[in-house]
Amino acid sequence: MTHRKILVTSALPYANGEIHLGHLLEYIQTDIWVRFQKMMGNECHFVCADDAHGTPIMLKANELGIAPEELIKGVSERHQADFKEFSIGFSQYHSTHSEENKEISASIYNKLNDSGFIKTRTISQAFDPEKKMFLPDRFIKGDCPKCGAVEQYGDNCEVCGATYSPTELKNAKSAVSGATPITKDSEHYFFDLPQFEAQLKKWTNAGHLQDEVSNKLAEWFEQGLQQWDISRDAPYFGFQIPNVEGKYFYVWLDAPIGYMASFKKLCTEQGVNFDEYFNKDSETELYHFIGKDIVYFHSLFWPAMLMGADYRTPTAIFAHGFLTVNGQKMSKSRGTFIQARTYLESLNPECLRYYYAYKLNNKIDDIDLNLEDFKQRVNSDLVGKVVNIASRSAGFIVKKFNKTLSAYAIEGDLYNEFVAKGDGIAKLYEARQYNQAMREIMKLADKANQYIDEHKPWQMVKEEGKEAQVHDVTSLAINLFRVLMTYLKPVLPLMAEQVEAFLNIDVLTWNDLQHPLTKHKINKFKPLMSRIEDEQIATVIKSSKQTIVAEVETKEEEDNMIQIDDFTKIDLRIAKIVKANTVEGADKLLQLTLDIGEEKTRNVFAGIKAHYTPEDLEGRLTVMVVNLAPRKMKFGISEGMVLAAGNGKSLHILSPDSGAQAGMKIS
Ligand code: MSP
Ligand code: ZN
Repeated sequence: MTHRKILVTSALPYANGEIHLGHLLEYIQTDIWVRFQKMMGNECHFVCADDAHGTPIMLKANELGIAPEELIKGVSERHQADFKEFSIGFSQYHSTHSEENKEISASIYNKLNDSGFIKTRTISQAFDPEKKMFLPDRFIKGDCPKCGAVEQYGDNCEVCGATYSPTELKNAKSAVSGATPITKDSEHYFFDLPQFEAQLKKWTNAGHLQDEVSNKLAEWFEQGLQQWDISRDAPYFGFQIPNVEGKYFYVWLDAPIGYMASFKKLCTEQGVNFDEYFNKDSETELYHFIGKDIVYFHSLFWPAMLMGADYRTPTAIFAHGFLTVNGQKMSKSRGTFIQARTYLESLNPECLRYYYAYKLNNKIDDIDLNLEDFKQRVNSDLVGKVVNIASRSAGFIVKKFNKTLSAYAIEGDLYNEFVAKGDGIAKLYEARQYNQAMREIMKLADKANQYIDEHKPWQMVKEEGKEAQVHDVTSLAINLFRVLMTYLKPVLPLMAEQVEAFLNIDVLTWNDLQHPLTKHKINKFKPLMSRIEDEQIATVIKSSKQTIVAEVETKEEEDNMIQIDDFTKIDLRIAKIVKANTVEGADKLLQLTLDIGEEKTRNVFAGIKAHYTPEDLEGRLTVMVVNLAPRKMKFGISEGMVLAAGNGKSLHILSPDSGAQAGMKIS
């Protein structure tokens, strides 16, 4: 493959909040891709910045009684410290509130203006007469004009779902001062997006976007493109529009330009040619990793701005889905709104990197971080499979063979088989199908462990005349481990570094795998990763609740409440366990046959094997959800659920008071 020149960006995080695990999904996804490109020998720059402008940041600074510059400085330091801990290897991290960005934003605006793409028009908007500022929709609250629900935001009602303009709200109040807003006219500047319709239609269908995104865009084209309001009146924290007193660029105008500005700084500092990357006929590649919520900005406004100002357009936009935790939107009250720092206090950053890689693909579906699965996955794959290969082999090499790997004996073609998988795994990384790459790698890890199991060096070492064989087996195992760690290096850069020290080599590279390590001296093996324990996760949840407790919005608390109708939907009955059996091939399950007073018994698979022996259960009464949709499992169909209490360690099936009988309804 020829040497490629690539510029990569992640979306710029807002400078008014902390980095959380949702953000990290994106930064980790991007960082893995960048590290992979570098391993392939490509020139790859990775730039990002804080998105520092806009009304929320200005108001937050006001609230704290500090200048916005001071607020964004502190936030930027904390963001960068978090990114560093997670090994997000930006080549440059800048701010949209920078000289470079001011200059490029002005220059792009001037070019657009000179070419007739900027229009002005007077619009009327809500204005806070006390604070003397125009109010963005989300800073106006009032009663819904349709259903009358109180305390609704200016653009839609969260109770009845109606959308409206803020002027229609009843009893509208400014969320900033509490004053009643008035309506006021002012002249606004617009970017004339409709002029780009033909060009954009062509661009969005030319392979720069994922299919799901192109489809979404087709809908937007159908609804018709609108002129985009790019100006905001003072007071505003941002850049003044050139030669226009009292008007500022809307934050989303200079935010994507922040990608260029950050790269500009890198070019100045590192002697890279900026124009080579951004001129109209550039042969370099430009990729933006973003969340699906900001597709409109990146696939319509941004390419149009670049077209209008005579720059190159992106090679591709890579959008990802949103992070959910335990199957639900991250929630402050549930303690699943987890900040980067809270995670770091209890858990190893590389565990999260691995789990995200294990889940991520090139689609825009949401990604779930299930904390129980996270623990099991990391413990079983990284600790139980990968690290295990080295930890069960290294001791022999160090103690018996003077730390030196054997001259080598290729057992069958195992080593070559591992190396031959490299191309396929590289293709998966390139295509952002990390989930599949991880599965391929773990299949190999299983093979390596099988190989060791079959040869049992711990047994051979006690037998006469098997010394050379022990040496060869364990040397091959170490070599297989080296291959796996090379494949995992984009995901686990810190562990890879430790492995480089252990193997006493310069750096793990894809190309070097052609040559196994033979007659090579290694270093003593140090534990590379420890198992995740339940307590660590419990601590993260607990501290997340505490960190955020003060900020919890009552609204969210209400989200967690259910109505009586919700509860009565659940059909709970007393069930008699007539039979309990173990299930062949399932470590955790027992198969229960339950009598619920109907003709037919019910079959339920319950994850309680660790806590009950089948005989103890037979004849007992318990509580069962009867109307749970049947679920097809590997072992059969489960027709309901048995209720149990537990704390993650012990588990206790519920029993009714004496006198209850199978089939009784619970209410
Ligand atoms: N400042 C804008 C981006 C400007 S880019 C020129 C912004 N900032 S953000 O802080 O809200 O989000 C930064 C990135 O993180 C976005 O790509 C966003 O989609 C992503 N995520 C924020 N929360 C997320 C999840 N819960 N899950 C996955 N990604 C999430 O948008
Ligand atoms: Zn309503």
